[in-house]
Amino acid sequence: MDLSADALVKRYPGVLALDGVSFAASGGEVHAVAGENGAGKSTLMKVLSGAVRPDAGTLAVDGRSVRFESPHAAHAVGVRMIHQELSLVPELSVAENVFLGAEPARRGVVDRARQHAAARAVLDRLGQARLDPAARVADLPLAARQMTEIAKAVAADARVLIMDEPTAILAQEETDALFRVIAQLRDEGVAVIYISHRLEEIFRIASRITVLRDGRVVESASLAGMSRTDVVKLMVGRELAAGYPRPAAAPGAEVLRLERVDSGPVRGASLALRRGEIVGLVGLVGAGRTELAQAIFGAAPLTGGRMFLDGAPFTPRTPREAIAAGVGLLPEDRKRQGLVLMGTIRENVSLPSLGAMAPRGVVDRARERAGVARWVEALAVRPPMLDRAAQQLSGGNQQKVVLARWMLRHSRVLLFDEPTRGIDVGAKAEIYALMRRLADDGAAILMISSDLPEALGMADRLVAMRDGRVVGELTRDEATQERVAALILGESAAA
Ligand SMILES: Nc1ncnc2c1ncn2[C@@H]1O[C@H](COP(=O)(O)OP(=O)(O)OP(=O)(O)O)[C@@H](O)[C@H]1O
Ligand SMILES: [Mg+2]
Repeated sequence: MDLSADALVKRYPGVLALDGVSFAASGGEVHAVAGENGAGKSTLMKVLSGAVRPDAGTLAVDGRSVRFESPHAAHAVGVRMIHQELSLVPELSVAENVFLGAEPARRGVVDRARQHAAARAVLDRLGQARLDPAARVADLPLAARQMTEIAKAVAADARVLIMDEPTAILAQEETDALFRVIAQLRDEGVAVIYISHRLEEIFRIASRITVLRDGRVVESASLAGMSRTDVVKLMVGRELAAGYPRPAAAPGAEVLRLERVDSGPVRGASLALRRGEIVGLVGLVGAGRTELAQAIFGAAPLTGGRMFLDGAPFTPRTPREAIAAGVGLLPEDRKRQGLVLMGTIRENVSLPSLGAMAPRGVVDRARERAGVARWVEALAVRPPMLDRAAQQLSGGNQQKVVLARWMLRHSRVLLFDEPTRGIDVGAKAEIYALMRRLADDGAAILMISSDLPEALGMADRLVAMRDGRVVGELTRDEATQERVAALILGESAAA
């Protein structure tokens, strides 16, 4: 089935999110959609899937004009979107979710056995033999939830499948599994539309690419014969100075020390951070990296061990206490823990700094605006409107707002949990440079990254975790992909 759009326009207050976008995806192809944060990718997908109504322009299925008044109308002709925030009912089982609204019934009663068997068949077809149809969705890891959502689309015989940054939540093995499923659906004639900021993925899975910039299509072409540099140039409109900033000259005094810390799944973790250095915390999903950062941030209690900040015992019982002591956290899940969605950009950025800006109890608003504006500009938050609600920003721009918060706060210790997830290539380079600048200004940075080349490129030192424990440390010179992999996977023979 082919899905096409002609001259779509979608206006939001102050932003032309789609400015005459034409697009076509055909059955049997994986069509990548790329572009900077805020370029209009998600908006285009929402229009294609009936979630957002365009101000102008038309849609057609197999050349016949259609109008999607709702996602339901799009489902009816086989167009489905797998959402960045998954839309399953957590209390129900996998099978119940797969057939929600389309339950196999006998005399008006849901036929549970048939539903289970049918879900099993769909999951098997997708190569998901280990996913149990009876499992409660709430108990499943994110990757399995995403597969459930895909199974739901497949069960409904989706002919166009739209995926908006599906691998942002996945580990490497899970990405491989997803790509096998995508390739299979493509071979069965499904049109897959695939948004990603990761160029390697685009080149691996897609045959065509459409690049958006500022709500317009700058190119729609076959990927054959295109290089990564070509794609980056199309996305950002210029060539990017490749690579990572130079490493720290010499780290300074110790700022933070952890001694045998236990917290949640974290067991006996010891490590130290010094001024001016970026320490990469690597490990598989589930190794305990996020939990360790949460413990340092006062968001999870210590059940054992001790922490010291500048040599003094450090016992934050809440994030508020940690922030007051100069510790900042960029959380992995920015929607849940990072942002006040109803708040404006200004409020979100200045929140933890207001105390410092109100020497006599009254916030100096001019100073606040100037401080916020400086970081909004440095990080290229788009649109750079300080009074826009965080909710109205694109995913990558929300991430930048949380980054700007800790930049403004002058934190001594910064915990960055997957700081570049969902960030476009151009902004990534800017964030790397800013992180290095923060370190040069004296901050100690702990950077959790599941992107191994990124961790190797950015960190002055790497600390590896496995099963809740710190299992090794490598200096920048010692760190190679192989040695890091050996540590995080636990293949001692290869170390
Ligand atoms: N509900 C909304 N209200 C107001 N503006 C919005 C809304 N949704 C999106 N926008 C704006 O429309 C533009 C396009 O946003 P969109 O989410 O489509 O970008 P994107 O390409 O998906 O970016 P990202 O890579 O960061 O996810 C942005 O400027 C964004 O701020
Ligand atoms: Mg988006």
